[in-house]
Amino acid sequence: MNRAAKSPVTRHVVSINDLSNPEIEQVFDLAQGFLDELADKSRPYRIARSTDAGARHILASLFYEPSTRTRLSFESAMLRLGGENITSADPNTSSAAKGESLADSVRVVSNYADIMVIRHPRDGAARLAAEYSSIPVINGGDGSHEHPTQTLCDLFTLKTKKKNLRNLNVAIAGDLKGSRTVHSFVYALARFGAHIAPRPAPGMELPAHVDKRLREEFHCVMDPHAPFGALYRTPDEPHQPALFAEPESDILGRDEKMAAVYVTRFQKERWAEKNQDYPTVDADFLKRPEFLQASVLHPLPRVGELDAAVDSDSRAVYFQQAAYGVPVRMALIALLLGIRKGKSLRAVAGGFDKQRLPPYDQPRDEGLRCVNSNCIVHDSSELPYVRNKFHVIKVASPPAYKLRCAYCETDIEQFVVASKKHHWFTREIASLLHTDGQNFRELLAFSDASVAEKAGYRVRKHFGPHAESADAGTGTHGD
Ligand code: NCD
Repeated sequence: MNRAAKSPVTRHVVSINDLSNPEIEQVFDLAQGFLDELADKSRPYRIARSTDAGARHILASLFYEPSTRTRLSFESAMLRLGGENITSADPNTSSAAKGESLADSVRVVSNYADIMVIRHPRDGAARLAAEYSSIPVINGGDGSHEHPTQTLCDLFTLKTKKKNLRNLNVAIAGDLKGSRTVHSFVYALARFGAHIAPRPAPGMELPAHVDKRLREEFHCVMDPHAPFGALYRTPDEPHQPALFAEPESDILGRDEKMAAVYVTRFQKERWAEKNQDYPTVDADFLKRPEFLQASVLHPLPRVGELDAAVDSDSRAVYFQQAAYGVPVRMALIALLLGIRKGKSLRAVAGGFDKQRLPPYDQPRDEGLRCVNSNCIVHDSSELPYVRNKFHVIKVASPPAYKLRCAYCETDIEQFVVASKKHHWFTREIASLLHTDGQNFRELLAFSDASVAEKAGYRVRKHFGPHAESADAGTGTHGD
């Protein structure tokens, strides 16, 4: 039996929102300690010196997509913690090439290691892996969905440069649609009170569900007329200020300045066509007044969108950002495994955005399916292992409910819900949730009325507390 499985709660980090703000601070405190140790050249050995006794754990890297920084920095982090690595870095040489499902591979690998980092081309793959794993799963990038540990490196870099994120303007440039690093990053920026200035390549705006989530759940207000273009302004809210306790520096709160620009490459592996007008960041770009004090970040690799001439500019921090991958991942691994005395993520309740309603959860061949064609639920190898599983999200204004895929977090706003018991369906989800909210298994969602009708359901005619009996009394619903 592996050691991690003994823990009462196995924590996974699939989304940046799986970590609460205090937990992110905890990661950074520990990472700073590791960084200080690693920088101490007077010490002759660089492996395992950061550990207390007993760090003999195994990290499994399960990579179904290319990687340099994420995999190697995770593995370096594990070695520096005194642990060992086992690696499956090429799906062509693993059982994936024979058609083995991710769900099966993960169940097997759970017994070979104590913690796992996974990268996969499908959105939501890491969440599926977490469902089947008895050891902590860390998402090393799943399709275009999220890349939470890159965000930890990004935030840690900003912390070292800017001390406090509140009211900082951070520009995000390039492929905002396909870059998973951006999706995790914008949630984190909003959570810590930074304003976000989207500068997408044409047609590569933030996905609609990310944009909506920023506005509806993180309460960002889009200001299209900010001095240097569109800006999501994040309000001051109690959940934000905790992160960086340092006093605000003099550039904070100034509308006209960017504190950082986060450059991303065109995600060519996710798009069929080349983007002709992809923006490049070079010396000229950085001469613009708003970028005079802007740190330049990039998750790397760069492939032309960030001029190498910028490397010698004091604002360039991307290689430092990549270097922080080791101490930051050391800290995350140490906390998830509880291998630093007195420090463990399991002690913290965790998570930012917990859903109040139970998830809607039905077998994969029944009712509504995720609308994102790149979601792991549509991967033929995984079909026996996935379910039609959605979080039920309450939207405040206008009042409504939407469904969020539990794997890839794509939202579905238009749907009807049927009662399996009564054989009717309704668009009035709210009334149904209130009456049947305790019994979600009895509800079946469909994309629209015609699909529900094809499946044998009839529209619900009456509402109110006695609706079911009134409808059933007509004898027209085939109960
Ligand atoms: C990123 C990724 O894989 O999403 N790389 C990384 O992990 N640093 C960014 C990218 O590939 O563009």
